[in-house]
Amino acid sequence: AKVKLVSGIHDSWVAFTYEAADAVLKDERFVKNPRTVFPDVSEHELMPITHSMLFADPPDHRRLRSLVQRGFTPKMIQRLQGRIEEIAKIQVEQMKGKGTVDLIADYAFPIPIIVICELLGVPPEDRLDFQRWSNSMVEINDDPSFYEQVEVHIKEFQLYIEQLLAEKRIHPQDDLLSELIRAEDDGDKLSVQELYGAIMLMIVAGHETTVNLIANGMLALFTHPEQLKKLKESPNLIDGAIEEILRFNGPVEFSTDRYARESFTFMGKQLQKGDHVLVSLASADHDPTVFSGPDKLDITRERSPHLAFGKGIHYCLGAPLARLEGKIAIQTLLNAFPEIQINTALANLEWRQSFVIRGLKELP
Ligand code: HEM
Repeated sequence: AKVKLVSGIHDSWVAFTYEAADAVLKDERFVKNPRTVFPDVSEHELMPITHSMLFADPPDHRRLRSLVQRGFTPKMIQRLQGRIEEIAKIQVEQMKGKGTVDLIADYAFPIPIIVICELLGVPPEDRLDFQRWSNSMVEINDDPSFYEQVEVHIKEFQLYIEQLLAEKRIHPQDDLLSELIRAEDDGDKLSVQELYGAIMLMIVAGHETTVNLIANGMLALFTHPEQLKKLKESPNLIDGAIEEILRFNGPVEFSTDRYARESFTFMGKQLQKGDHVLVSLASADHDPTVFSGPDKLDITRERSPHLAFGKGIHYCLGAPLARLEGKIAIQTLLNAFPEIQINTALANLEWRQSFVIRGLKELP
């Protein structure tokens, strides 16, 4: 369908059905780099993150993705299991005896952040700065001053990365950032802008997604007590539970921007070159022609070809890591606090304002 998502901005095509969503994600006539269709876009109109794989088209996309992928193979991720368990246990210990906590700030947020910071080689102590910067890149707001603030945040973020890189160049370590710097040093593998883009993408992706897998997942379980009971009785259902949470309440509601590379007819609609296209992953994952009883959480659902991690060449690079973190975080929490429940007196359950991210402001 063609819809107006933001007033004052051109209309967008949005794929809502599963069939359309799946087809758009797999079709390379929908491109990601604005410069593929608008070659005159100037550098200052682009965000630094536009130079990352998420906004790249082949052949650049392949080159950028393969440089980062080395750190995210299922084998590499499996090796992190012990460390993720350790971090989850530390966070659980810190919540004991506190009564009501904010499950997001006190638990769901720190776990994936500490993991991604360690993997990249950036100081986890700076996570509140990362949170501020990455929030402003994914949220929307009616207040015009918000966008001035976004620019300030992006500049701060860039300056931070500049200092971090200067430090890493002198003292390289066994981490992903040092490896990316080596690729940049090799000259033709990674430009300096692409290096910045890659680091920003990893920090933003690491901060905005898995936190919501854990929190949206717990919310879904709290609001479906019979499913929560089932999971507590049969902990081996956890893998299915994670897939169902991703489908039911996925952290990424809309795909990122795509553009029609040329004018063509797609599923009966006439698209013009440069048309803006989005995929509603949340809507596709509730399509009744694919998922029976889509608005019910069912952790024993057998077949779930959900699109929560996208599809095609931009399929989420962090999916194995996110699945493992979500599984460990929810299991550890339920083991430590079998009687855990929402504090309904405090919960007004407000969603953050964002197209891309589906996440609560807090979860008492
Ligand atoms: C891409 C979802 C966690 C790194 C994507 C896309 C989705 C997604 C839907 C594709 C967007 C599009 O095609 O427009 C999720 C969800 C997560 C999660 C639901 C958590 C539950 C992570 C984590 C990382 C990560 C932890 C690692 C730091 C990436 C990267 C891409 C990506 C690098 C770009 C891949 C490419 O363009 O080739 N993710 N993500 N994600 N994600 Fe994730």
